Amino acid sequence: MGAVTIIGSYNLGITYTVETLPVWGQTLLSRQGFFSHGGKGSNQAVAAARFGAAVRFVGAVGQDAAGISAREMLLHEGIDVSQLVMMPDYPTGIGTIFLDDHGRNAIVVNPGANAQMQIDTILPYSKDWPPDDILLAQLEVPLGTVRTVFAQHSGMRILNPAPADASYARESWDWVDILTPNETEARILCGLAPDDPVTSLELLKLLADKTHGKTIVLTLGAEGALIWHQGQDIRVPALSLETVDTTGAGDVFNGIFAAKLAHGESLPQAAYKACVGASLSVSRPGVIPAIPAVDEVNRRIEGGTQNAEMLGGSSGFSKKGSDNACI
Ligand code: RIB
Repeated sequence: MGAVTIIGSYNLGITYTVETLPVWGQTLLSRQGFFSHGGKGSNQAVAAARFGAAVRFVGAVGQDAAGISAREMLLHEGIDVSQLVMMPDYPTGIGTIFLDDHGRNAIVVNPGANAQMQIDTILPYSKDWPPDDILLAQLEVPLGTVRTVFAQHSGMRILNPAPADASYARESWDWVDILTPNETEARILCGLAPDDPVTSLELLKLLADKTHGKTIVLTLGAEGALIWHQGQDIRVPALSLETVDTTGAGDVFNGIFAAKLAHGESLPQAAYKACVGASLSVSRPGVIPAIPAVDEVNRRIEGGTQNAEMLGGSSGFSKKGSDNACI
């Protein structure tokens, strides 16, 4: 059984809870302010590790207090940090998060050391990655680096194209096996406006066409996910819970999803467990403290009316040339 290698960012998170966002020139007092571990790559690594995957985190932080603390946290989560580079000349990335009463957020990231993950830094490490590892990346690190290491990897490659940039509409994604955008990211990847009124199913099919039939897992927040695989679409539900904090919900989804595929679960089963895990995480504050335990997700699934068999089970899903996940 393969492990999960995550190429991604770490950011020191600074969260302010606010009623509204400030306007230009305004100083706002927030109700709460706190530091936390963040960054899409690191969040996904912790979620995957907590769901039983052997995780290697490939990333870059500064040689500063935040970078040292990041390394300690990842180690504490049982994650292999032997390929976490500590850069003396760059600061650790910072994510500033404004969180409102509805659990919605607005985030500004300064990438710091994450932006220095150039191919020369990563290539010496990528030679050691076992071919049956699942690779999982996001795009708070340079796209060119991810593209190069993905193109060289013979096992499964999952890309969470977040945050999305308008220039990505020109990318072919032929070096990816599974794309996991949310709806805003998928619209941007299709060259549409971020708020284009296209339906989820139309969007799924548009992205599938644009990527020449790649497997797409379109995450829909409270609505679960829509999967496109080998010409079929499958809808996967989420739990209906009160929303407290949506920060990092996509990260929790991606980490659990990759871990479950590494365990050999089918694409719909892995996506369903990831949806349940992400639903639970948004019902609590924070990202890493909000990641549910495996048992909690299993209990919710056993107690629920939906199960993975109803979602299409494992029949008909296999990736040619890879035996590390039954998708
Ligand atoms: O996806 C949420 C994450 O995005 C936050 O942890 C923040 O640091 C940004 O990277």
